[in-house]
Amino acid sequence: MQAHNLIDLETVSKSDLQEIISLAGMIKENPSIFTDACHGKIMATLFYEPSTRTKMSFQTAMLRLGGQVIGFDNPSNASIAKGESLKDTIRMVSGYADVIVMRNPVEGSAYAASLYSDIPLINAGDGGHLHPTQTLTDIVTLSYEKGTLEGLTIGLCGDMKNGRTVHSLIKTLSKYKGNRFIMISTPELQLPQYMLDILEESGCTYSFSDSLEKSIGELDVLYMTRIQQERFRSPEEYEAQKGIYVLDAKKMELAKKDLAVLHPLPRVDEITVEVDDDPRAKYFVQAEYGMYARMALIIKMLSKREPKPALSLQNDTAHSCKNPRCVTNTESYVPHLFYQKGGKTVCKYCDSLTDE
Ligand code: NCD
Repeated sequence: MQAHNLIDLETVSKSDLQEIISLAGMIKENPSIFTDACHGKIMATLFYEPSTRTKMSFQTAMLRLGGQVIGFDNPSNASIAKGESLKDTIRMVSGYADVIVMRNPVEGSAYAASLYSDIPLINAGDGGHLHPTQTLTDIVTLSYEKGTLEGLTIGLCGDMKNGRTVHSLIKTLSKYKGNRFIMISTPELQLPQYMLDILEESGCTYSFSDSLEKSIGELDVLYMTRIQQERFRSPEEYEAQKGIYVLDAKKMELAKKDLAVLHPLPRVDEITVEVDDDPRAKYFVQAEYGMYARMALIIKMLSKREPKPALSLQNDTAHSCKNPRCVTNTESYVPHLFYQKGGKTVCKYCDSLTDE
């Protein structure tokens, strides 16, 4: 695998993705071959935000590969509670471990952390921005449960605005031929502008729907998501959005016989428990594929490592990121970095547009 870090799947080629998918399948079939693949290696899991599946599947993945795990999952027990910066934590941990897996509530924090790490860093979710290893989980699941990543009509339902899993998934699946996306949500929780720009550029067909009932019959894949309560500015705004889209057995009757229902989990109330027994419900097997996907990723990232490529970081003080949740607003020392896209200046950390 070419990429040194995994911040965004943008830097991972389709052939590298295919290698991860194939390797994940091999590991699932023959786990005993891989029990020493990471012998002597240490993974640091730095979880500044709650997690069950992502953290445990990474930890289990490393243990099943013969490696070991250090880290924290409660930042109030780590030096961040004493005011330590992200930069200092990362520099220090990169002297202890061979790979860092980090989840952090701040958008763009994964890219920022990678600037200060000498070892590969994997983004396990940076606020409402991206969640590339969930996407690996999702594409491994689709590859084995649907048999293809192309020509699919994919419905994404729930919180398109704050749901980092849908952002990463759309970015990746829009690169595969013939996929069509239907975003099922309220206008308040629709995709951010930069995601709409990505869809537009990809040339994929996409549309919006306000009704799961009306759209479900067209779908090959339904990706349900939780309304991201922790990212709302007020309890009232969350109350107004919760419980609007609920997948139940009645709606499943309107769906294709070979629909695959995915959900990154945790579920709150957006899928009723009766749906769990429907063979089209793939979300628990999806969580298991997540472990194999992460085992494959770790093997790829730790094998034949090139030294970290030199970066030229030009601090661009002429622009500033408009996104109040961006790491450039919380870690004041990070250089301000931007790139140009479709004539717009975009923040390198969180992909938001800037103040020109
Ligand atoms: C997701 C996340 O953390 O973004 N969960 C996960 O990693 N499996 C989805 C969510 O929290 O709703």
